[in-house]
Amino acid sequence: MSAPDVTVVGGGIIGCSIAWRLAQQGFSVSIYEANRIGSEASWAGAGMLAPGGEVDRDSPWALRSIESLRVYPAFLDELHEESGLAADYRPCGAIELAYSEGEFSTDQARATSQARLGIHSERLSANEVLNRVPGLNARGLEGGFFYPRDAIVDPREVVAALRLACERRGVRIEEGRRVDSLSELNGGAVVVAAGAWASALSPALPEAFPVKGYLAGYALPRGAVGPILRRGHTYILQRSNGFTIAGSTTERAGFDRTVDPSIVQSIHRRAHQLLPSLLIASPEESWIGFRPGAAGDEPQVGRFGESRIWLAYGHYRNGILLAPITASLIAAAIIASSGTR
Ligand code: GLY
Repeated sequence: MSAPDVTVVGGGIIGCSIAWRLAQQGFSVSIYEANRIGSEASWAGAGMLAPGGEVDRDSPWALRSIESLRVYPAFLDELHEESGLAADYRPCGAIELAYSEGEFSTDQARATSQARLGIHSERLSANEVLNRVPGLNARGLEGGFFYPRDAIVDPREVVAALRLACERRGVRIEEGRRVDSLSELNGGAVVVAAGAWASALSPALPEAFPVKGYLAGYALPRGAVGPILRRGHTYILQRSNGFTIAGSTTERAGFDRTVDPSIVQSIHRRAHQLLPSLLIASPEESWIGFRPGAAGDEPQVGRFGESRIWLAYGHYRNGILLAPITASLIAAAIIASSGTR
């Protein structure tokens, strides 16, 4: 078998999106995935497409987050067309909840600086919040900020569609294919999309590291939770089928896969405090994932020096959101470097 034009190391949402975009342009692409396609951060992620919750300072990636959210519906439509699979997508907005004057003024300051970046929000009184969120704990509620553009997608469904779209475009997918060093890969361009594991491929690469996060899942009636609810480090969101997810934690704990019941309970307590009448029983499911952190706290996306290596990792809390834009950036750069096709 001839060597591919491009080898993508890592078959999460980022690697698969890049492979798909390149295959659409006629490149011969292979994905090498150490485990199963989409089985790490892309499997674990809640799927918030939410610059309103994640972005509060000006940077190129702040603007890319907003742009990626804008193109997400078109990305999903195209994926649906090519794969036949639709991913659950809810443009439901989000509410940042404030339970004290201090929280409200912090949220106000954040909303003001976000508005300068183009992230729109609306200030709501306590009553306006309660009208939008049945079952919300009213005690001490000061008000909130509604972010109408924030949305939710099911990342597992996006990855399933990407896999099929890649296969239909002739991408060769090798699961259980672990790459220990970039020096194993001969010829052609290499895209490093191995998330928290990326820098293990070469000591020369910018550092990547795992940031462990817990999530808890509940089976609730469909439609019981409207917008994403956020307060500080707590968030609650609901899929169209009723499955409701509460999060989260952030821990630099290496690749420790332990699911500690006391941490799950602490998430449950925080979520229950917000929705006491809905989150009555303990969660039915809980899981952890490794957010892909990277040196400099910004994604590492672009060519590595003048080499044939392209970096696409370090999306930290926003890999699901940033997949469309990262794929476009990397595919365009590879196409430009290889001449017109
Ligand atoms: N994007 C939310 C989280 O990483 O917990």
